[in-house]
Amino acid sequence: MLIFAHRGASGYSPENTMVSFHKALEQHSDGIELDVRLTKDGVPVVCHDATIKRTSNGKGYIHDFTLEELKTYDFGSWYSDEFKGECIPTLEEVLILLKNRDILVNIEIKNGPIIPDHLEDEILHLIYKYECNEKVIVSSFDHISLKKLNQLDNTIKIGFILHHNLIHLFDYIDNSGIKPYSIHPNHFYTNKEMLINAQKRNIRVFPYTIDDLQLGEYYKNLGVDGMITNKPLAFKQSNVFTSN
Ligand code: G3P
Ligand code: CA
Repeated sequence: MLIFAHRGASGYSPENTMVSFHKALEQHSDGIELDVRLTKDGVPVVCHDATIKRTSNGKGYIHDFTLEELKTYDFGSWYSDEFKGECIPTLEEVLILLKNRDILVNIEIKNGPIIPDHLEDEILHLIYKYECNEKVIVSSFDHISLKKLNQLDNTIKIGFILHHNLIHLFDYIDNSGIKPYSIHPNHFYTNKEMLINAQKRNIRVFPYTIDDLQLGEYYKNLGVDGMITNKPLAFKQSNVFTSN
C-alpha cells in the first residue's frame, strides 16, 4: 500500500514547495506527487495552478514569467508566516533532492490554458540527467501529452489521471496505444470492477485525493495499490496502512 504525498506533505506545509517535499520525506511517504508547468523561458517549475495568485504574494500566469522573475515571489506566507520566503521550486531542484532517496516521484504534467510544445521533452531531459527513470511516474489529465511523452520514450512509467467516471474505461485504455503503469482515478469512481480490470492488465490503481483515514481504510480493503493524500503523516502513523 503506497502512500503518495499530494503536492508534497501539503496538509502540513505550503503545497509544491521544497519544505513540503522535505516533510514528505521525513514522514516516510512512499511517493511524492507534484505538478509541473513551463515558464516563459522554458524551465519546468512546480506549481499546481496556471497562475501564482493563490499560492504566492504575486499574480499572473506562470507562462508569462521567467524563472528569475518567479523566484522573487514568496510561495510560503499564504499558508503561514512560518513558511515565509519559500520560493517556487524547479523540477530540477526537486529531482536533485529525491534522486538518491527511496521514494517514487509522480510528476503530473499540468497543461492549460496554453499547451506548451516542449514540456514533455524538458521533463524527459531532467529524468535522464538525474537518472530517475526507475522512480518516476509521469501522470496527467492531458492524455495527449502522455501519448507524446510515451512516443518519445516508451520505457517511462505513465499514469492516466481520471477525473470522470468513464463509460468503457478499459476499452479507452486498451485503445490508447499506451500500456500505463497506473491509473489515478478520482476516488469517488474507484470501485471493485475497476480494480479487477486493472489487475488483469497489471495496471496499478492510485486514487486521489484521500485525507480521511476511514475512507482510506475503505479503499485499502477494496484493494487499491496506493493512494494520494495531503496527509501522509496521518496515514503513515496508522497501523492500518503500514501493516503490509
Ligand atoms: O494526481 C492526482 C491529483 O493531483 C490530480 O488533481 O488538481 O490536485 O492536480 P490536482
Ligand atoms: Ca496534481
